[in-house]
Amino acid sequence: MAPLVIAPSILSADFAKLGEEVRAIAEAGADWIHLDVMDGHFVPNITIGPAMVRALRPFAKIPFDVHLMIAPCDPYLAAFAEAGADSILIHVEAGPHLHRSLQAIRALGKKAGVVLNPATPVSSVQNVLDLADQVLVMSVNPGFGGQTFIASAVDKVTELKAMIGSRPIRIEVDGGITPETAGLVAAAGADTLVAGSAIFKGGPGQYASNIGAIRAAAARKSGRDAA
Ligand code: DX5
Ligand code: ZN
Repeated sequence: MAPLVIAPSILSADFAKLGEEVRAIAEAGADWIHLDVMDGHFVPNITIGPAMVRALRPFAKIPFDVHLMIAPCDPYLAAFAEAGADSILIHVEAGPHLHRSLQAIRALGKKAGVVLNPATPVSSVQNVLDLADQVLVMSVNPGFGGQTFIASAVDKVTELKAMIGSRPIRIEVDGGITPETAGLVAAAGADTLVAGSAIFKGGPGQYASNIGAIRAAAARKSGRDAA
């Protein structure tokens, strides 16, 4: 069973001091940092671009998981790779040729991820699994932190896990993850959990316990030893 990965989303961090926030969340026990890139076109919000990914890169050694909520994605893949992304995730709807876009990410030497919106069926990634290191199931509609978990994501994780079988592909869930919902998706087979508001709430003094609560709940419900 793949080790659990907890990936705090800095969308809920203090944007006036993002470097310090990245350092603090890494020191608090994050496995990866999740960076949400939004273009105001594919999703109704605008966040950061490659310059910010590059500026944040020196603040932590752990992997940067870059979630592109942009369309088209192809013109920007190289810029995010060069800025320091370790994995680059693109939505099924981010361009006309998903398979080619995933090939492009792999050709840049990065891990490739494909993202399912709440309305996007699991079957839409069936023919690109050979190019995916991660499949991310959105459990909110992308664009904002702090939204309510969409329960149908749990069944999608179950379906995805069966489809993936023994292939070494991470199942990631993003949106509305709390200790309670982390347990639900981990029990269904998710091994990589993104959380923004539930981890950054309470400020830096709470980060380690917030991460620990999600990790413990997920480990317990998935039959792993609690770390
Ligand atoms: C939403 C982003 C998420 C978001 C999660 O579009 O992809 O990564 O930050 O935030 P919470 O955990 O608050 O739902
Ligand atoms: Zn995200």
